[in-house]
Amino acid sequence: MKKRILSGMRPTGKLHLGHLVGALDNWVKLQDEYECFFMVADWHALMSEYEDTSQLAENRIDNTIDWLSAGVDPEKSTVFIQSGVREHLDLYMVLSCFTPLGWLERCPTYKEQLREVTTRNLHTYAFLGYPVLQAADILLYKAGKVPVGEDQLPHLELTREIARRFNGLYKSKIFPEPEAILTPTPRLLGLDGRKMSKSYNNTLNLSDPEEVLRKKIGNMFTDPKRVLRTDKGHPETCNVHAYYGVFLPEQKDEVERGCRSASLGCTDCKKMLAAGLIEKLKPFHERREGFLKDKAKVKRILEKGTEKARAVAAGTFSEVREAMGLPRLA
Ligand code: TRP
Ligand code: SF4
Repeated sequence: MKKRILSGMRPTGKLHLGHLVGALDNWVKLQDEYECFFMVADWHALMSEYEDTSQLAENRIDNTIDWLSAGVDPEKSTVFIQSGVREHLDLYMVLSCFTPLGWLERCPTYKEQLREVTTRNLHTYAFLGYPVLQAADILLYKAGKVPVGEDQLPHLELTREIARRFNGLYKSKIFPEPEAILTPTPRLLGLDGRKMSKSYNNTLNLSDPEEVLRKKIGNMFTDPKRVLRTDKGHPETCNVHAYYGVFLPEQKDEVERGCRSASLGCTDCKKMLAAGLIEKLKPFHERREGFLKDKAKVKRILEKGTEKARAVAAGTFSEVREAMGLPRLA
């Protein structure tokens, strides 16, 4: 039997290239070796986007289309919506009963978000419990492995502690302790050299049309020490060169030589990058166009996946009821 994987993303906006190389490419590779559950974490999105929910439905579909276009295959994997499976909240409640406040207040992601996010009020009851809901997500499916970025490791550690505490309190063996799959993924910086993030407005989105990609890439920051066209460049400190490394490795050395000798100018270098990247993304964009024309199909994929997820989640939660002496549901 294949080991099970669960992972998810919050539908808070358009997905960008960082999501592709940091997560989706990896999800796609895992599909054959594992039984995968990929979840649109809309409850988690609500924890920060609760003031304006108008984009949520659109983001749910649009992100799913990006997943499918990247190669997530609904014949192999279960693609589902978190809020469509009510047991996520049921288990979140159960786990909340015994998760100490200290574990949550100490969580580095929590402290960081409270410090850094200024556009929303995250001093809420639910937001403190963010990792508890994430633990519920993972444990409901008894996932053995969770592919996540490094920033999510504290949540995985909490999930293990919560699983251990549940099993100990209720003398159960229901929950395995999940492990992270941390595959080394290239860290793509944004157009301005800062972390790629929607809130910095420096992303290349998976849904950006070709002319937008060209324009954005044309405006990318380059080696700050190369002021004049005749100045020699330093590719190791140039974000454009890093993009070659990730997307066009076959051109990387040539660009490096051209840059160092000043035979290649930044404008041409970026034009080449745009052309190469657009070429590489072509299959993705074509699939995306197809799904955009048939959103009904995407909705059916989500409905089917959510139904499958519901069956697994209901099974686990009835074990939880049993272990805790809660009444069985009719
Ligand atoms: N917290 C994750 C993120 O922001 C999203 C997420 C929600 C998740 N539930 C999950 C990831 C369960 C892995 C497993 O990226
Ligand atoms: Fe960067 Fe290319 Fe300009 Fe060199 S030539 S500094 S790699 S953009």
